[in-house]
Amino acid sequence: MKDKIGYLAIFGGPPSFQEKLHVGRPNIGNRQRILERINDMLDRRWFTNNGPYVQDLERRIAEMVGVKHCIAMCNGTVALEIAIRALGLRGEVIIPSMTFIATAHALQWQEITPVFCDIDPRTYNLDPNLVERMITPRTSGIIGVHLFGRPCDIEALAKIARRRKLKLLYDAAHAFGCSYKGHMIGSFGDAEMFSFHATKFFSTFEGGAIVTNDDDLAERIRLMKNFGFAGYDNVIYIGTNGKMSEVSAAMGLTGLESLQEFVSINRRNYKQYKRELEGIPGIQFMAYDESEQCNHQYIVLEVDEQTIGISRDQIVEILHAENILARRYFYPGCHNMEPYRSHFPHAGLVLPETERLVRRVLSLPTGTAVGSKEISGICQIIRLVVEHDSEVRERLKEVKRSI
Ligand SMILES: Cc1ncc(COP(=O)(O)O)c(C=O)c1O
Repeated sequence: MKDKIGYLAIFGGPPSFQEKLHVGRPNIGNRQRILERINDMLDRRWFTNNGPYVQDLERRIAEMVGVKHCIAMCNGTVALEIAIRALGLRGEVIIPSMTFIATAHALQWQEITPVFCDIDPRTYNLDPNLVERMITPRTSGIIGVHLFGRPCDIEALAKIARRRKLKLLYDAAHAFGCSYKGHMIGSFGDAEMFSFHATKFFSTFEGGAIVTNDDDLAERIRLMKNFGFAGYDNVIYIGTNGKMSEVSAAMGLTGLESLQEFVSINRRNYKQYKRELEGIPGIQFMAYDESEQCNHQYIVLEVDEQTIGISRDQIVEILHAENILARRYFYPGCHNMEPYRSHFPHAGLVLPETERLVRRVLSLPTGTAVGSKEISGICQIIRLVVEHDSEVRERLKEVKRSI
């Protein structure tokens, strides 16, 4: 535990942690069960193309989410691209800029223009009043992102989509196992996408899924993710290869058996962070609605530089030196990255809340690889830095001068 500024690694002390602490280090379920499943798969010699593990995983996820269809895919980005195509989106689609770049790229990849809309600073999600204003005759849909697992204003977005005859898709990459008004995320809009990337609390190494209650849409997605084949030698759509492999599904089936354990560990971590960080001036802890189900896979803070005199980026630098790999999710916002920065050089003018948040938000390590001792160490460093802000500022200047 460090109790003096001079002990901080950025000022020459030893790092607090020998091993790097990642924001999302993979959770592994029962290792023996994964290996048994892989062994069975090898015996069966059925590695992909809608194998028994993929079918079982799809059935279980559909049941858990409470939807008619789950189509497992090779990753969340391809799942999103296929859903966009299967829904017939074109022209312009309204999305937040405060999201992982894949949300925007999945559209632009298909020459559909992402139109960046500002967010509600209380939820970090699309502000429905602003969505309404971004609609043009070219708009074909809205993609809401349940950022950090907190649901969008689903009722308001559904009303807009219905009234303006727009498709409504959700990027639920962060929200597997979360609920909105008592119903599981995955059951809203025309369809929702999950990512099961290794950094997510539930992983299939790489993987993702589309979930929907729309029979026709599900059928189109199933065909499109398999090159458009409707049977032997019969292709009826343009398609791609979006299939999930059996080894990924084996990991997923095993992970599902430990899902509640992963969530309880995340929740325990979340509560400890909350306890230890609450009340620090200039540090605002992102809270979750306790009445909803939540995977708690992100620990998010807002750093108010005006109050503490130290920027979010300086805190990141200090933490990285301690081997705490805090992340600036989702800096600098999609509109500030190419090709969108060149396409829409003035987008920031209509995104004041996004511009503000991408400079303040910070994600901290959690998951089964992070224990109570590590969390106390991380919180103590943040507290130490905030309590000695002016000294830290001066010493950071010295470090800069000496480089
Ligand atoms: C919000 C969001 N959308 C889409 C994706 C893409 O998912 P994948 O990595 O599975 O392709 C991710 C993350 O990884 C994400 O965080």
